[in-house]
Amino acid sequence: MLNLWLREHLVYVCHQQNLVAKFRSQKAMKLLRFAGLVFIFITTFQFVNIRYYGGDIFSLSSQDKFPVSIDVSTEPVSTLSGPERLNSSSSRSVEVDEEESTGLKEDHVIGFDKNDTVQGHDSFVEDVKDKETLDLLPGTKSSSNESYEKIVEDADIAFENIRKMEILESKSDPSVDNLSSEVKKFMNVSNSGVVSITEMMNLLHQSRTSHVSLKVKRSSTIDHELLYARTQIENPPLIENDPLLHTPLYWNLSMFKRSYELMEKKLKVYVYREGKRPVLHKPVLKGIYASEGWFMKQLKSSRTFVTKDPRKAHLFYLPFSSKMLEETLYVPGSHSDKNLIQFLKNYLDMISSKYSFWNKTGGSDHFLVACHDWAPSETRQYMAKCIRALCNSDVSEGFVFGKDVALPETTILVPRRPLRALGGKPVSQRQILAFFAGGMHGYLRPLLLQNWGGNRDPDMKIFSEIPKSKGKKSYMEYMKSSKYCICPKGHEVNSPRVVEALFYECVPVIISDNFVPPFFEVLNWESFAVFVLEKDIPDLKNILVSITEERYREMQMRVKMVQKHFLWHSKPERFDIFHMILHSIWYNRVFQI
Ligand SMILES: *[C@@H]1O[C@H](CO)[C@@H](O)[C@H](O)[C@H]1NC(C)=O
Ligand SMILES: *[C@@H]1O[C@H](CO)[C@@H](O)[C@H](O)[C@H]1NC(C)=O
Ligand SMILES: *[C@@H]1O[C@H](CO)[C@@H](O)[C@H](O)[C@H]1NC(C)=O
Ligand SMILES: *[C@@H]1O[C@H](CO)[C@@H](O)[C@H](O)[C@H]1NC(C)=O
Ligand SMILES: *[C@@H]1O[C@H](CO)[C@@H](O)[C@H](O)[C@H]1NC(C)=O
Ligand SMILES: *[C@@H]1O[C@H](CO)[C@@H](O)[C@H](O)[C@H]1NC(C)=O
Ligand SMILES: *[C@@H]1O[C@H](CO)[C@@H](O)[C@H](O)[C@H]1NC(C)=O
Repeated sequence: MLNLWLREHLVYVCHQQNLVAKFRSQKAMKLLRFAGLVFIFITTFQFVNIRYYGGDIFSLSSQDKFPVSIDVSTEPVSTLSGPERLNSSSSRSVEVDEEESTGLKEDHVIGFDKNDTVQGHDSFVEDVKDKETLDLLPGTKSSSNESYEKIVEDADIAFENIRKMEILESKSDPSVDNLSSEVKKFMNVSNSGVVSITEMMNLLHQSRTSHVSLKVKRSSTIDHELLYARTQIENPPLIENDPLLHTPLYWNLSMFKRSYELMEKKLKVYVYREGKRPVLHKPVLKGIYASEGWFMKQLKSSRTFVTKDPRKAHLFYLPFSSKMLEETLYVPGSHSDKNLIQFLKNYLDMISSKYSFWNKTGGSDHFLVACHDWAPSETRQYMAKCIRALCNSDVSEGFVFGKDVALPETTILVPRRPLRALGGKPVSQRQILAFFAGGMHGYLRPLLLQNWGGNRDPDMKIFSEIPKSKGKKSYMEYMKSSKYCICPKGHEVNSPRVVEALFYECVPVIISDNFVPPFFEVLNWESFAVFVLEKDIPDLKNILVSITEERYREMQMRVKMVQKHFLWHSKPERFDIFHMILHSIWYNRVFQI
């Protein structure tokens, strides 16, 4: 307990030091004094009150310090979490229940309670949003949205650092390193131990052809529809150009377009209504795990794709949040996700005893969308047959080609304005060759820094954090004015930087062996991104410099064209990220028939 407490507060103190560095001025000192007072208050509060949820201090979007209304009668697992957690939550349940109707109103999205002092200081964004705090920050006026945004931008990196510590903390199960036998065979062939993008495509095709044998006489209408769709997609009307879709971005534009149109016309999804908030049915719309929340919210409110009649459904959605699962049930310091897994199993047991759909296919027409780093291990056992859309799409963590889907990890800071600050400078004004800033998680980033940090090469802007002396130049501005944005893996293969780079129109350089990039089944990533093997970090600059100006301009133009597939809109639009996620799930379902 003491350890846990110390850890939290150490992080808290570090966090404050970051702030000191960032806002060196008299006003910053004012802020610090204010923060100090709060700190003392929290510390005191700590001993008087019930225990403080350790894991949560690390999470950007964690608002409910205490897990929210868990119904013991239907979800027995939750009792594992201890009675005091249940008691402390009662006052919040109402707020959370109201949340669905408030839609994108950010203050309510995650049950943010401004009155709660402890909470208010767990998250910098919340602090900044607070008018009072804004006034205390240097160079800001609460009336100026501009400055507010800058601060939030700077807070970006701090967040990720903090989150990753949390992940390190509980990453204790080495068995997840097991590779599937097909992948292993493939790695033998390629002999490098790394599955390249082309090899990923081959694995995908292998899985597709192996499924053709299942084409046996099936009788249901749903199966006939899927079989029809598959035939249509495999024999598409040939398209060479499309006003909306730039041909080189796709492996096969004709197939993608046909599949997409069929999805729009045919796809019906059944969403299970069972399950209590917050783990089920509660979309978290903010932070780096936001894509699971946005997807949940947009699918549930879709008139086009959702059917109330499960007999008409091609797919069944399990509407849980991996973020809320961790937040609600993970016992800090326990180093175990056993009770999280058990919770999901109980949910499945309930679903499968109540309906016949799960048993009929063993779950292979069911899907989940989960962005939290632990989602692969949480779902690999009981949801093994489901289509799993995962941000942590790691070949070496059991990602199954042809079944699982690589979910983009998107950072959303202001849910009301998901497109805030979209875009970047034109090529001619991108003076910096390569940029990276972020925490030193995992084995790879220290290597990157060792080779390219410390400003030893003026072309390579590689930082562990944004240097304070650089004045106003923020993380976002670096991305907007660099040619290449380096996206190295952290503790896990995925990083929000990949989509951030596309968002700011910077060509992503992915250094993360065995990372399956989002929508890889339709997008030809190598046409607009650079993949560098982890072992080639010492050659990074050579690799980038050897790319011709012409090729660079082509890739950057393609980045701008592919961007639309990675954007959230308050109301979903054609070919946006919501539709692309759904499409990848649909595509896999069709090809598994
Ligand atoms: C929680 O509430 C129940 C009944 O309301 C009570 O019996 C129990 O002692 C409480 N637990 C704690 C830790 O306060
Ligand atoms: C929060 O504060 C406002 C005004 O300060 C008060 O009206 C409200 O009841 C408080 N809410 C809670 C949950 O304490
Ligand atoms: C900032 O606020 C002003 C009004 O105060 C508004 O006109 C402007 O559009 C806002 N800027 C952004 C980026 O939202
Ligand atoms: C990983 O592989 C080992 C043996 O190679 C096996 O005993 C273990 O059960 C596997 N773990 C998982 C999670 O598949
Ligand atoms: C991979 O190659 C090694 C020898 O190079 C062999 O012993 C092993 O069985 C091969 N693995 C697979 C899955 O083919
Ligand atoms: C796309 O796939 C279709 C069907 O397999 C094929 O006929 C067509 O040639 C492919 N197009 C390209 C550009 O590879
Ligand atoms: C599905 O299978 C489980 C375990 O095999 C069983 O307990 C359950 O009753 C079955 N569901 C239905 C609806 O038959």
